[in-house]
Amino acid sequence: MMNSMKAVAVLPKKREVALVQHPEPRIAAPTELRIKTIEVGICGTDREICTFAYGSPPADADYLVLGHEAIGEVMEVGPRVTGFKIGDLVVPTVRRPCSAPQCVSCRNGRQDFCFTGNFTERGIKMVHGYMTEFFVEDQAHLNIVPPGLRDIAVLVEPLTVAEKALAQLWQVQSRLNWAGTNPKSPGAGKTAVVLGAGPVGILGAMALIVRGFRTFVYSRSADPNPKSDLVNAIGATYVSSEKVALKDFAKMAGPIDVVYEALGVAKISFEVMTILGLNGAFIFTGIPPEKPAIPIEADTLMRQIVLKNQAIIGTVNADRLAFENAIRDLGEFKTRWPDAIRGVISGRHPIENYRDLLLGKATGIKNVIAMGG
Ligand code: BGC
Ligand code: ZN
Repeated sequence: MMNSMKAVAVLPKKREVALVQHPEPRIAAPTELRIKTIEVGICGTDREICTFAYGSPPADADYLVLGHEAIGEVMEVGPRVTGFKIGDLVVPTVRRPCSAPQCVSCRNGRQDFCFTGNFTERGIKMVHGYMTEFFVEDQAHLNIVPPGLRDIAVLVEPLTVAEKALAQLWQVQSRLNWAGTNPKSPGAGKTAVVLGAGPVGILGAMALIVRGFRTFVYSRSADPNPKSDLVNAIGATYVSSEKVALKDFAKMAGPIDVVYEALGVAKISFEVMTILGLNGAFIFTGIPPEKPAIPIEADTLMRQIVLKNQAIIGTVNADRLAFENAIRDLGEFKTRWPDAIRGVISGRHPIENYRDLLLGKATGIKNVIAMGG
């Protein structure tokens, strides 16, 4: 008899979000591991899937188990697993490759740049996620986390958004001699603006500061508030767009070398694009829901993008290196700002609270489901 376990799932046909009984997975290939879930983060993507605007169940299922930000503990290893042992803490990646032979990205472990669009994503697109008690995964998609990061490793996945963005920033800006000569502090002397003070914004600000950028976080809520306190505590400067008009912010910031957008709102993003500096880069990470068209200063922007050599980059998902960099950076954040990094996790909840967390008003910074045990 197959055991079953609790899982948070969406049922798009019934338009329901529910706690379901899901069969407990077993190792089916020699390079797979069975993992006990410790914590799973809730993010905007999960909340959007719960509006049925995004996400899809596996082809043979009428529900999708949610959750793509997880940390777990290895319970069992397949006979050909190497480099992992029982008791190791692991963070899984999200995206799985398409099967097209001609997709050079997927064939080379870079499904984050899949060309066919037929990739799958655990907890999002056609593969069950981690908001459940156990999961099975191939060793190729798992990253070991040091035990000292157990309490914050649920933040690895959201931090990978910034890590992949930074990797691309260095690549794009290698078009000129941009990053300076100190590899430890490639942002020294440069100014970064983070849009949004959610988890992806705050973690991105931390990653920028560690690399030497003078960093501003431009976000709506009037300060002081718990997010602005956290931002100021790590040495960034929080600026409320409600209190400081864009032109005043532009004066305060001086030439802006990079904008890291982590807000998911087009209007303010394109407004801030108008104050990006010479040779600057603007990196979009937010995924806004479809809305009616809005006016933007299109000619001003086009003129400026050309005359100022600007790069506009969109980035989604993350590769293995981004996960490795995120794990390393989290260790650095914990050393520098132990209270602030713990403070990013604003609440731990039992799985039974899934409704409030997914369908209720968004509160705090990063809420996580703690599987307990
Ligand atoms: C996840 C990514 C995923 C993206 C689009 C994000 O919330 O972090 O891994 O690729 O959603 O589905
Ligand atoms: Zn997410």
